[in-house]
Amino acid sequence: MTIGERVLDRVLRWWGSRGGVAQFHRPTGAAGHVAGWIMGRRSSNVARNHWAVRLLAVGPTERVVELGCGPGVALAALAARASGGLVVGVDHSEVMIRQARRRTRAAVRAGRVRLVHAPVEGLSTVDGPFDAALAVNTVGMWPDPVVRLRELARLLRPGGRVALVSQPRGAGATAATSATAATELTGLLADAGFERLRTEVLDLDPPAVCVLGHVAP
Ligand SMILES: C[S@@+](CC[C@H](N)C(=O)[O-])C[C@H]1O[C@@H](n2cnc3c(N)ncnc32)[C@H](O)[C@@H]1O
Repeated sequence: MTIGERVLDRVLRWWGSRGGVAQFHRPTGAAGHVAGWIMGRRSSNVARNHWAVRLLAVGPTERVVELGCGPGVALAALAARASGGLVVGVDHSEVMIRQARRRTRAAVRAGRVRLVHAPVEGLSTVDGPFDAALAVNTVGMWPDPVVRLRELARLLRPGGRVALVSQPRGAGATAATSATAATELTGLLADAGFERLRTEVLDLDPPAVCVLGHVAP
């Protein structure tokens, strides 16, 4: 970790203990803008999102949906891969949708990225089918995640792929916390009917975990 990252970590811990965590669940107003700015630039955030996009192995003509897209770090990387496809980002924060739009401006203009300001509880408004779906550090914030993941499965084509990522950010989080998060995500995907589940780990502090799976063919 660089000195800058360490300082940022301390600031975030201080901010978190004063209610700032809410700004990462649903960024609003000026504080939400700062939260999005941090998510868009913090090196561990960027590394985690780019790693997840690589794991999802999106092809040039595929259609992909990202739930809880935040400021659009993964969306931009997905759009670069799906150069002849479509990437849809969903978030219930208007501030995040605006930042994601700025980050993917050219692809939005070209009609290759669409942004949907909606809660994941409103997935029926999103037009499928998709080849793949991604959710990074957001599933733990959703109400009834198994119900949401079942709805997501219906948006995916048969055999479609999903990647759920978690890097626990609470004070004192360790590799064991990440392992527990992976077990929880695996359980949620299994309960929602996803198959061929596997876990990948990215060596960050604490580690990021990505659970990948498929809709039944
Ligand atoms: C910690 S941020 C992660 C953002 C992004 N995935 C990243 O890794 O940079 C969580 C994001 O999920 C969004 N979110 C949380 N609950 C949501 C819900 N029920 N519906 C839609 N978006 C949600 C928040 O607005 C926020 O942008």
